[in-house]
Amino acid sequence: MFHSKKLVFLFIIAVMVLSACQSATEAPVVTEAPVVTEEPVAGGAACAPNCTYEDLVVGFLQTGSEGGWRAANTASFKETAPQLGLTLKFYDSQNDLAKQVAGFQQFIQDPEVNVIVMSPLEVTGWEQVLRDAAAAGKPVILSDRRIDGFEDLYESFIGADFVEEGRKAGTEMCKMLEGSASKNVWELVGNVGAAPAIDRGTGFRETAAECGITVTKSQTANWSVVEGKQVTEAWLKETQDVQGIFGQNDEMAFGAIEALKEAGLVPAEDVKIISVDATAGAFQAMLDGTLNVTVECNPLLAPQVYAAALAALNGESLPKWIPSEESVFFMTDPNLESIAAGRKY
Ligand code: AHR
Repeated sequence: MFHSKKLVFLFIIAVMVLSACQSATEAPVVTEAPVVTEEPVAGGAACAPNCTYEDLVVGFLQTGSEGGWRAANTASFKETAPQLGLTLKFYDSQNDLAKQVAGFQQFIQDPEVNVIVMSPLEVTGWEQVLRDAAAAGKPVILSDRRIDGFEDLYESFIGADFVEEGRKAGTEMCKMLEGSASKNVWELVGNVGAAPAIDRGTGFRETAAECGITVTKSQTANWSVVEGKQVTEAWLKETQDVQGIFGQNDEMAFGAIEALKEAGLVPAEDVKIISVDATAGAFQAMLDGTLNVTVECNPLLAPQVYAAALAALNGESLPKWIPSEESVFFMTDPNLESIAAGRKY
């Protein structure tokens, strides 16, 4: 009898132990399952959703200092930060992709930085650091230049439609070469792999083809006056059968202007010239009569970028792309002098 009672008792104990084990292994029933998404868990800041600019510590990865546009863009970030009361940690990538990735990792590790802003040197190479930033709960904002893919790993891109800038340049080159027997155009390209270099070329070819323009030469000149001049000089040694030059930024167009002059050609007359950026230097070249058209790319992005960074810190969702406002300016504009006088950069 006793024996059987003991067995029954042991059996009950076994059942309880088993059920206890079972419930331990089953996932705790939580009313709201944590949503595991690819999206960066923005708004993880303690102050969210009521963070202010004083709470914002931005780690900004700038490309480098390759010209007038970049100088105006950097100034926009450095001047606007103290005006808003936020802390800016500025990283100069010296136009070196490896340095930019290293700077990104630095900001992920930096306990003070709560939002990372980047002007990507190239469109690829960002997956790992973007995933690491998401894992660290640090929202990422792209400024000025887009990247390929991974939209779910950054909050927003604030910058230009580079394809549209190229289209505008192609359309204006068509107008200037109307009636020209041949329409050979040379293209000075930005740094290889950069969104503006890829997209402006795409846009230009789209509209230029509509009037039968042929891009007969195209080469990177890395956004620089010196390389713009060297590349054009080399081409002019081969042939002078060129009716137009498309400089993907002002500096490269300035280099081409110098090369044309030294080759005895008249820039903006013998060869039509279009640049992108519309910096003060481009206005001076138009006033000097050596540049026909400049397509604006707005460098004063900081106020929009910082507003987006604060929204991200507060966990607010943002449009994936916030395009910047831009125009086109002409050497032939009768008001050119007063327009130039009113420019901020
Ligand atoms: O990303 C914008 C481009 O970068 C500008 O057009 C060029 O001048 C700069 O280097």
